[in-house]
Amino acid sequence: MPTLEIDGQQLTVADGTNLIQAAEQLGIEIPHYCYHPGLSVAGNCRMCLVEIEKMPKLQIACNTRAGEGMVVRTQSERVKQVRAGVLEFLLLNHPIDCPICDQAGECKLQDYYMDHDRQPSRMPLAEKLRKGKALDVGRLIMLDQERCILCTRCVRFLDEVTKTRELGIFQRGTQNRIDIFPGQRVDNPYSGNIVDICPVGALTNKEFRFQARVWYLDHTASVCTACATGCNIDVHHRRGQVFRFRPRENEAVNKYWMCDEGRGSFRRLHSERRLLKPMIREGGEWVGAAAEAAQGLLVRALHEVRDRYGAHCIGALVSAQASNEEAYLFARLFREGFAGSRLAGLSWSPAQASRDDFLIDADKNPNTAGLRALGLSPDAPAILRAAEAGELKALVLWRADLAPSQGQEWLDQVAEKLDFVAVIDTDGHATAEIADVLLPIATVVETTGTFTNRTRRVQLARRAFVPPAQALEGWELLSHLGRRAAGWKLYPSAEAVFSELARNTPAFAALDYAAIGVHGAELAA
Ligand code: SF4
Ligand code: SF4
Ligand code: FES
Repeated sequence: MPTLEIDGQQLTVADGTNLIQAAEQLGIEIPHYCYHPGLSVAGNCRMCLVEIEKMPKLQIACNTRAGEGMVVRTQSERVKQVRAGVLEFLLLNHPIDCPICDQAGECKLQDYYMDHDRQPSRMPLAEKLRKGKALDVGRLIMLDQERCILCTRCVRFLDEVTKTRELGIFQRGTQNRIDIFPGQRVDNPYSGNIVDICPVGALTNKEFRFQARVWYLDHTASVCTACATGCNIDVHHRRGQVFRFRPRENEAVNKYWMCDEGRGSFRRLHSERRLLKPMIREGGEWVGAAAEAAQGLLVRALHEVRDRYGAHCIGALVSAQASNEEAYLFARLFREGFAGSRLAGLSWSPAQASRDDFLIDADKNPNTAGLRALGLSPDAPAILRAAEAGELKALVLWRADLAPSQGQEWLDQVAEKLDFVAVIDTDGHATAEIADVLLPIATVVETTGTFTNRTRRVQLARRAFVPPAQALEGWELLSHLGRRAAGWKLYPSAEAVFSELARNTPAFAALDYAAIGVHGAELAA
């Protein structure tokens, strides 16, 4: 645990901490390009040079470990002069096409030039070296070789993290350029990460480029719900539209990375089949209904089935797409309001679902472990068999499209045997077609809730913006249904639902939103 001094401030850091990390702990940014905490140290950009007392030459901070008694200066005249020199060198052949560069606003070349250089180029534009522009090098990736500063972050990511090695540095001297190896493309399942770590506009994402200027986007901390790993993400959005997901650092879950499948899952949020208002079926036709009327119809229909046939003729399935808060309230609604009904959690993934031994999990649900911890029976198949056998009269489905697992024919047959089907979801999917009542709810980015990942880590996804039209947040809708069916008081927030859940569920007892924080917390054994 060395104690050192940086810019006149003393601090003690863990053994092995480099000077960039040590300075960060004091809120001091040492500018850097090639260093990335998730990759090996390359030490090639020289942007991080600092002055260390008793050392005659400036040292690169990324490859210098904090030592006992070290005195470091990051702002001396010598350091400032060298930084300006390094920047001039890096910009020598740069095309300065910032106005049409998609990295503008999050480009370290722009930022550091403004902070540390600000001198006009001594190289006339016409004499600058020309290299490849807008090269299509992968499913998601466009490469601009002229903007590249040869930091090798992308190369090291592909060497060290995915080990797929599609990119390399070719040619010599000033002709050096990043390129794909012959016959290769950057199409591995984690390719999007190289765009995130490229400090300049050399690598851009085909799906995001030219869609929005980054300074117009708001950021909300969330969790990817495309599989059970629950990678931490930031949702970048504007006026109710999500533009991209980016990985958010969490050493215990995803480190700095996410997969392309999860990255692209934001597209599902903007479905053409989005449900925007409650619908009820009247004489075989769908008609729009007021929220009160549709909720009232659902509760009345279930009461009728219970009174006429018994509660065991009601099936209630909550999918592992639901948050802990939703699953808890759904279970409470059926346990209290319709005691004796058949309640289960549904966690279905396609048989050929992608998986690997890094992040991608074959379970494509974000909350399978949460449903289990909440005591929800995983026996949805038994309930579906009961529906098929005509033993059920009513079926209520929460975020559960049965078509992919059961098939359309099965749905049509079962629809014949049921008196009443309620679908509560974001989209008008195939299962919604057989419903008598459709209640629209918020997508994961429109509501606050927690998910329990495959290692039983509970993580918080915050609401980025309010749901559109008449869609309600899931916990809010369940709160209204509980009031109608069982006389509940309305819950004021998702956090209040979680507090109650934690009081009533031993595995969650030690948790609240503060304890979960931005990096999550594990369930008790
Ligand atoms: S493409 Fe980007 S990440 Fe790769 S070497 Fe060039 S600047 Fe670095
Ligand atoms: S590994 Fe899973 S949780 Fe992580 S980004 Fe991919 S789909 Fe999302
Ligand atoms: S960040 Fe230290 S040399 Fe590049």
